[in-house]
Amino acid sequence: MNTKIFVVDDDKNIRKSLKEILEDENYEVQVFPSGKACLKQLEKEKPSLILLDVWLQNEDGIEVLKEIKKNDPFLPVIMISGHATIEIAVQATKIGAYDFLEKPLSIQSVLEKIENCLQNKTSELNKDIQLEYDELIGESEQIYKVKQAISQAAKTNARVFIYGENGTGKELVARMIYKNSNRKNKPFIDINCAAIPEELIESELFGHEKGAFTGANERRIGKFELANGGTLFLDEICDMSLTTQAKVLRVIEEQNITRVGGSEKIHIDVRIIAATNVDPLQAIKDGKFREDLYYRLNVIPIIMPPLRERISDIPILLNYFLKKTIETNQLKPKIFTNPAIELLCQYSWPGNVRELKNIVERLVILTDKEEIGIKEVRESLFTVISDTDKDDLANLDLKSARREFEKNYIIKALKQFDGNISKTANFLGMERTHLHKKIKNLNIKIKDE
Ligand SMILES: Nc1ncnc2c1ncn2[C@@H]1O[C@H](COP(=O)(O)OP(=O)(O)OP(=O)(O)O)[C@@H](O)[C@H]1O
Ligand SMILES: [Mg+2]
Repeated sequence: MNTKIFVVDDDKNIRKSLKEILEDENYEVQVFPSGKACLKQLEKEKPSLILLDVWLQNEDGIEVLKEIKKNDPFLPVIMISGHATIEIAVQATKIGAYDFLEKPLSIQSVLEKIENCLQNKTSELNKDIQLEYDELIGESEQIYKVKQAISQAAKTNARVFIYGENGTGKELVARMIYKNSNRKNKPFIDINCAAIPEELIESELFGHEKGAFTGANERRIGKFELANGGTLFLDEICDMSLTTQAKVLRVIEEQNITRVGGSEKIHIDVRIIAATNVDPLQAIKDGKFREDLYYRLNVIPIIMPPLRERISDIPILLNYFLKKTIETNQLKPKIFTNPAIELLCQYSWPGNVRELKNIVERLVILTDKEEIGIKEVRESLFTVISDTDKDDLANLDLKSARREFEKNYIIKALKQFDGNISKTANFLGMERTHLHKKIKNLNIKIKDE
């Protein structure tokens, strides 16, 4: 995946020539005539770097810079100026501009400054990352930020709250924090709060005394006590009932537990890492998650980015799992062809890294050839997409059933590629115009109204 650069300049000729020069160097370039247009696009996607004109028509470049930095302090911006005064340069640097380019622009200095900035950015991101155990694969900015947070969290005993969609690597991150922390030789205990029935969860967490309830024939040690001195991973914490949440909060505050049916207070020293795949603030609003518990847990928040927001990591992960599957199953070497990788980069990955891992394993094991190509990938994504809910087609005649199936299938495929016609057509192996026609004939609405 190419490095993406945004160029903001009100001068059409400068936009055109910068685009040409940078594209020749294999950068992906998007140009904007105004800061406003650029800020709007930044809500949707993040480039690696922005070149921003100081003097824009009807706009102050410095104000645009402020707005960019407010939303993303780490996004590097190089200012372009015709006749910058020292005063403006000082002001821009204070706000966080990375460097200045003087008009008229020299190709050499443009390229040098960009390269320098991008290199610096990686070393800047790498700074402070000290991880002895690092299984988190990926080189995107988002992954570096996660690693920075892991490294920071590992140095302390502070509670950590990890958010992210299914399969983004929350548990992996929790284990990495543990393995890199000074509690690494003590236990790591995990509990999936969603998987345990409400009537058992307290006994699971705090243990119980013999005879505490019917069926409690023996004393049982709970997860908090098992984790004593070590780390407790409370997975899917928003699925815990409010009553249990209140009890967990009290344990955190008092640092002791009482087994169910017991009266003795047992002191515990446990580092808590919690995770959830729902939005905790929404869960608080909905009355399903206690705000006070949230603030207790949220000392170091870590947000796991979905895979579709860090496409540059997809080829890296594909090759990583390819190699791993080959090694574990002692298979002959195989590779993905470039078109296959491209198609996999376009897919939206609702199940994130776990889904990618599963698809790669399946492809590697089922493909006999040395090359895994677009045909195999298409077949495998086809299974995933058509495998979702089975619609009742039995009552329809063959023609209507086929039409229904086709319609549903195209809708699902469109969804997987975020409604993008070119990508969906590419996946389905048909011409764009043909897909357009189908969409019209089958009366498919592209965007949810
Ligand atoms: N960046 C990554 N590099 C390597 N492996 C990864 C990465 N992210 C996730 N994985 C792997 O993907 C799988 C899913 O990750 P994990 O179980 O940590 O996700 P999760 O966020 O806890 O998912 P869920 O919400 O479904 O419980 C695991 O096998 C994990 O090792
Ligand atoms: Mg998990």
